[in-house]
This record gives sequence, C-alpha cells and structure tokens, in this order.
Amino acid sequence: MNSQMIASPIRIGKKVAPNRIVTQPMECNDADSSGNPTDLTFQRYRRIAEGGAGVINFESLTITLESRARKNQLLITEENAKKLERLIREMRAVNHESLILFQLNHSGRLSEKAFSKVVSVYPTGDPTVHVLTEKEVEAIASSFVKAAVISKQVGADGIDFKHCHGYIGAEMVRPANTRQDRFGGSFENRTRFTRETARQMRTALDDESFLIGVRFSIYDGIAGGFGTSGPEEVIEDLGEPIAFVTMLEEIGMDYINVSAGIAGSEITQPSKKYPEGVYRHFGWTKAVKKTVEIPVIGSGYSYLRDGKNNLQEPERSKKSFLYWAEKNLKDGNVDLVGIGRQSLADPLFPRKILSGETQSIDYCTTCDRCLALMLAQKEVGCAIHNAYYRDLYRRIKKEAQS
Ligand SMILES: Cc1cc2nc3c(=O)[nH]c(=O)nc-3n(C[C@H](O)[C@H](O)[C@H](O)COP(=O)(O)O)c2cc1C
Repeated sequence: MNSQMIASPIRIGKKVAPNRIVTQPMECNDADSSGNPTDLTFQRYRRIAEGGAGVINFESLTITLESRARKNQLLITEENAKKLERLIREMRAVNHESLILFQLNHSGRLSEKAFSKVVSVYPTGDPTVHVLTEKEVEAIASSFVKAAVISKQVGADGIDFKHCHGYIGAEMVRPANTRQDRFGGSFENRTRFTRETARQMRTALDDESFLIGVRFSIYDGIAGGFGTSGPEEVIEDLGEPIAFVTMLEEIGMDYINVSAGIAGSEITQPSKKYPEGVYRHFGWTKAVKKTVEIPVIGSGYSYLRDGKNNLQEPERSKKSFLYWAEKNLKDGNVDLVGIGRQSLADPLFPRKILSGETQSIDYCTTCDRCLALMLAQKEVGCAIHNAYYRDLYRRIKKEAQS
C-alpha cells in the first residue's frame, strides 16, 4: 500500500477524493461546431478517467456560444446536456471514484472576434469592444447558474466557477475594474458578481453535497490586475486575494484552486524559461492555506517531472514532482496538487505515480506546443508523445512558414 500523503483521500465539501492529484482543466478545442463532445473528446476523457486522479477538473466549458475563446470549445446548455451526460457516464464506467468537476466559463474580453462577440467588464481600450451593461452582467450570472444546474443534472460532482487567466470572473475582481455601478470600483462591488452568482447557484442547486469551488488567478501580472493594490499598480500585493479567499470560504465554497496569470502566460505555466515560477505557485497556495480551512489546490507542477529540470537545486531527487508534492502536502502548503500539461503528456500519470510505475511515465517537456495548438485554434494535445498532435503541430508550423 502506498503510504505517501499524495495517495491519501481527502474530504472536499461532502464528498471524498480518493487521492491528492487533480487533473487541471485543459482546453482541447475538439468539440463540434455546436459545442458537443466529439469522438476525440470522449476518447480523451476516458483516458483521463483511467488515469484515476482524485479530482478530474474538466476543461473550460463555455456557458454561451455567443462569446467564447475557442472555436471548438465545449458548450454547456440544455441543448447539449444529453451528450455531456453520456460523457460522464462513460468516464464513470472506467472509474467511479474520481470526483468530476465542470469548469464553467464566459470568455469576456478574451472571446475571439473571428467567430464570437467580444465583450468586457470595463473598457479594453478598443472602442469597438462592447462594455457590458448591468443588465447584461446579470444575464451572464443567470447563465452561470443555469450551467451549474445542468452540471448536476448530467452527473458531475461539482463545478468550478472560473475566475482565472483573464476571463470574465478574473476581469470582474481586478482593481482595474473601475465601473461606476454595483459591479465595479470598491472591493465589495468587484466581488459582488462572484458572491451573488455563487449564492444563486447554491439556491438553484438545492443540494449541499454538490461541490462549488473557484479557480482564480491570485496575481494577474498586469497593471491593475488582481493581486495588485490599485488600477495602475503591477507590483504583487496579496491583500485583496487574501480577502477574496476569506469571502469565498464565508459564502460556502467547497474548495479553492489557485492559479495565476493570463491565459498562456509564463506566470500561469512555469517552464524552462522561468523554472523558479514553480516556487511562486508554492508560496501562493501557502498564503491561501494560512487563511482558509477549505481544501486548496495548487497549480504549475508539470515542470518538476522526475527532477530533470533547470531548478537551481543540486540534488535531482529534491526537485521532482513527487518530492515537492509530498513536501507541500506534509508541510501544509497545499491540500491537492494539480497537473495541467502533464495530463496531456500522459493521461495515466496519476495512476503511474501512485503505483510507482514511474519508468513508463511520458513526461511533459513544457515545450508548450499544446499552447501553440490552442492559440492556432487547432485540436489540443501533446505534440511530443502523441503522433496525432505531433502531426497537427507540424502542419501549423508549415502553414506559418508558407
Ligand atoms: C493548452 C492549455 C489549455 C489550458 N486550458 C485551461 C482551461 O481550460 N482552464 C484553466 O483554468 N486553465 C487552463 N490551462 C492552464 C492549466 O490548467 C494549468 O494551470 C497550467 O498549464 C499550469 O499547470 P502545469 O504546469 O501543470 O501545466 C491551460 C493551459 C494550457 C497549456
């Protein structure tokens, strides 16, 4: 039996995750044009289910086709609920222990104008981008609530109310959101959307065991971003993020998933360009853990792999995923550790690391070709270890050169 802490179960709200690994949400842009899962989506999630992470956090599901960042993003509405239900059923047939969470999102200013409508909470500087009215913000909140109810109906264990990487939730809470109405200006106003929508979700779900949590960017890394002290500031200041997580616990959120940065940024996903970025993530979850009692999920662990990385620690055994996962869990710096890109490189990673089959792990190289595929609006996967995505990646490189 594995006596490591990473293999131990943990209570999240009224449910139990069988181990401490989370497969983080990874958008793979392989839905059909109506946002329905395709054969490729089914295949991907069956593999993830086989991997046996304690928590499987689904990729960003858009709550509307109108404003979305990815052309083939998965959608969650009544129209495609049956397909999502089948997806979950097939995953549970492979593995009925992992907790399955749906990440619910509206892309806001990061929506792609080539195929959807770009909208923002506060002006982007581009006068053609529509700034949402109070009524429109309320309508978006209602769509989030509807999507949470559908998530429960189709069999998910809970939802992740997305507040990271610059999408609408993240945009709302920033000091740069100086709207003059009840959704902007003061911290109280900027967090109203989160607070009221989460409360409406609880009421509509009418089920205390259904999990609601928030993945948020603790530090955006931009002027006026979250984790700074004002609309023009860029220096990290965790005053507001700490007040935010305190509020999330007070309103009954079941967990907090800590991320950082804007989609695709180096702060979000540490790599060989900035190895010490992993330590920033550890410090961020440590700060959140000091503040709240609810489970805290950490991000940015893929770079660590088997210790073959450029961290300035001379002993390889002291810079691996397993070393840091165990250390952070034991030191109380985090409750669950998340893998993003590593789950694309090897969807069976959790099972292999927990059973000690480490020889057969396909490690993520943090080359970020997956990100390049995503930014090119292609299907996303590991272009190192999977021939299908390797070929796709080659094609986009060729297209770029011609
Ligand atoms: C291709 C790609 C897609 C991603 N999709 C999502 C997503 O849908 N939702 C989300 O919250 N984060 C998303 N992320 C961020 C990851 O979940 C994760 O936080 C990041 O990759 C850092 O973790 P890692 O070092 O384990 O990869 C994505 C990252 C990449 C590279």
